[in-house]
Amino acid sequence: MTSFWSWYITLLTIGTLVALLWLVFATRKGEQKGSTDQTLGHSFDGIEEYDNPLPKWWFLLFVGTIVFAIVYLALYPGLGNWKGVLPGYEGGWTQDKQWQREVDRANAEYGPIFAKYASMSIADVAKDEHALKMGGRLFATYCSVCHGSDAKGAVGFPNLTDSNWRWGGDPDTIKTSILQGRIAAMPAWGEILGEDGVKNVAAYVRQELAGQKLPEGVQVDVAAGQQVFNGNCAACHGATGQGTPVMGAPDLTHPAGWIYGSSLAQIQQTVRYGRNGQMPAQEDHLGNDKVHLLAAYVYSLSQQQPEHVAGK
Ligand code: HEC
Ligand code: HEC
Repeated sequence: MTSFWSWYITLLTIGTLVALLWLVFATRKGEQKGSTDQTLGHSFDGIEEYDNPLPKWWFLLFVGTIVFAIVYLALYPGLGNWKGVLPGYEGGWTQDKQWQREVDRANAEYGPIFAKYASMSIADVAKDEHALKMGGRLFATYCSVCHGSDAKGAVGFPNLTDSNWRWGGDPDTIKTSILQGRIAAMPAWGEILGEDGVKNVAAYVRQELAGQKLPEGVQVDVAAGQQVFNGNCAACHGATGQGTPVMGAPDLTHPAGWIYGSSLAQIQQTVRYGRNGQMPAQEDHLGNDKVHLLAAYVYSLSQQQPEHVAGK
């Protein structure tokens, strides 16, 4: 801010404080001690005002707020370009500096604990009750917005507690998913296959791969759908629809692990317009040690389930 505005704000603020102090002391002059029955002579709807001094507590409170303001404005930036002299903040307090100090303090306190767990294998950390508690808290803070506080997912967001994995459920793959993030690329087929092609292949996926009945009376050619599948889909989802974890192409024989729904209409929608699920990378944001703990937490959730790993 230019020095003109700096002085403008400073003088206005200090001037106001001085004026208020003067006002409160000036009105005390000439006041009589003790209470009186004398009124000031005016009446508002029959309510009259006695000519009594300000109550002492009120007066002291008023002076107190002014003292507070002076101390505050000396310590913190508030008066124009004045940076404040709060101890521990070289060159003045800022919210960034305060945040950084708090982060540094937390890192100094918890860093060694995270580092200890980061040096253990994920499978071992997943057996440590204290570590899982910390992991659970991190999960609630950073992951539950998308995966749900129970980690069971929602439409578009995978359930992390079951044994169906899109990218793989072994400890290191889970850690990679979290650390580097994942971008799934299921192309849109509507224009390439045409409406009949979409309907046929969706029917094939639902009936033959997912093992679910087709709604009564739908006009589809499942055999033609299989041709479409072999020619266009098998490259990613595998010849038998078993999925390809390295590209995050889900196992189409386990609809329980799907995230976009398995009704015929939902499968058609997926095929017609494609899907691009994105798991945001956490490496820069949380760092290796916290991700290690999170990976152990996620791994522990799925360990309570019967075995089924994508692609196997
Ligand atoms: C280039 C590789 C690729 C091809 C080719 C491909 N898919 Fe996919 N498919 C994916 C990926 C990756 C996903 C996961 C998308 C996501 O998670 O957002 C997916 C998701 C799906 C889903 C949704 C599963 C769920 O979780 O709800 C269905 C259904 C599906 N594909 C069917 C097909 C069909 C049918 C074809 C052929 C017409 C096909 N895919 C071709 C890669 C592919
Ligand atoms: C902005 C939403 C979002 C947030 C936040 C998020 N995720 Fe995800 N995550 C996703 C989506 C979407 C996918 C699925 C990507 C795909 O379609 O393949 C995913 C996938 C995953 C996978 C792979 C699942 C599989 O089946 O292979 C893991 C593991 C995972 N997330 C863990 C986490 C953890 C731990 C956190 C917290 C640090 C987190 N996620 C935060 C959206 C999110």
